[in-house]
Amino acid sequence: MYHLFFRLVFRRMDAEKAHHLAFRWIRAAARVPGLRAAIAAVLAPSHASLATTALGQRMRGPFGLAAGFDKNAVAIDGMSMLGFDHVEIGTVTAQQQSGNPAPRLFRLVGDRALINRMGFNNDGSAAVAARLARRRTVFPTTVGVNIGKTKVVPEGEAVQDYVTSAERLARYADYLVVNVSSPNTPGLRNLQATEALRPLLAGVREAADRAVTGRRVPLLVKIAPDLADADVDAVADLAVELGLDGIIATNTTIAREGLGLTSDPAVVAQTGGLSGAPLADRSLEVLRRLYARVGDRITLVGVGGVETAEDAWQRILAGATLVQGYSAFIYQGPFWMRAVHKGLATRLAASPYATLADAVGADTRKVTS
Ligand SMILES: Cc1cc2nc3c(=O)[nH]c(=O)nc-3n(C[C@H](O)[C@H](O)[C@H](O)COP(=O)(O)O)c2cc1C
Repeated sequence: MYHLFFRLVFRRMDAEKAHHLAFRWIRAAARVPGLRAAIAAVLAPSHASLATTALGQRMRGPFGLAAGFDKNAVAIDGMSMLGFDHVEIGTVTAQQQSGNPAPRLFRLVGDRALINRMGFNNDGSAAVAARLARRRTVFPTTVGVNIGKTKVVPEGEAVQDYVTSAERLARYADYLVVNVSSPNTPGLRNLQATEALRPLLAGVREAADRAVTGRRVPLLVKIAPDLADADVDAVADLAVELGLDGIIATNTTIAREGLGLTSDPAVVAQTGGLSGAPLADRSLEVLRRLYARVGDRITLVGVGGVETAEDAWQRILAGATLVQGYSAFIYQGPFWMRAVHKGLATRLAASPYATLADAVGADTRKVTS
């Protein structure tokens, strides 16, 4: 049904316009109490076996919405209603910015992929903090807050820019993410080098501790799939050294590997980050590498090309405690999360593992032991 609708309606529209339209419907439905309860009952059923504790939070399951879909924290309950077990908002920057000129989001339907160069279009951390302060929780979902650098701020002043956002947003975050991996802000990914990353993560950690007393807000870093293996290892070691809580692997890629022949070369040539199916292999590889390095000392979040319950299960076996998705939601529609949950519960029941937590990293441990 959704596939037909996608072909007839969304596919004929500009990709960003289709996103805004779907987003409006989700938000509208989430505002009507009876309707949102009915939708949640169908789409967000909870399987007791999938209950997950991660980053100090108890969640219905391990499967959440990746950053970038709800950049301004306007649809947390709507996305929770559809079945995401956690919602990561952002990327939010210290200053409001409109992002790159449109068109800036492109579909590669045959490859089940997207290319985007949105460029962190967002309302800015002061406005998003005010929105989160006003939020009346409907569904008690875990909210991650993903922060990034304002485009006009020079790389040398990046730490202060992130610190400003952390100070404003940490109190509303169940976990905080330092995004240094989007390809659409010039120079951003240079911050993944340990010499730059160390002061950045230390600064944000201190800012979060200053802003929030009485609990420690978990801090994660989100990395690119385009890092060389040695650099993935270096980030993993730094994360352990700094006592970071988690690593999110991965953001979109600037590579164009794994694409079939059906995609229009003019679209493939668009500047931006590639997400969806072609990203899956490298994201999984980076995740395995991280788990082999950090084991259970740090919570890993697997994202990039997750399309099916089997994909999500493989991420868990590779080392992910939490799994996220974005692009497949565009192609699969509102029943996707339900299918992933059902498939995960089935796989867990058929596996030798008593709990999801036991399954985390089981495959990677076999290879490395
Ligand atoms: C249109 C679009 C916008 C995105 N914006 C952000 C963002 O603002 N911050 C971020 O950390 N990741 C962003 N991402 C990356 C996703 O969070 C995710 O890491 C990536 O798409 C891989 O997952 P997927 O293959 O399931 O889409 C964006 C992705 C897309 C497609």
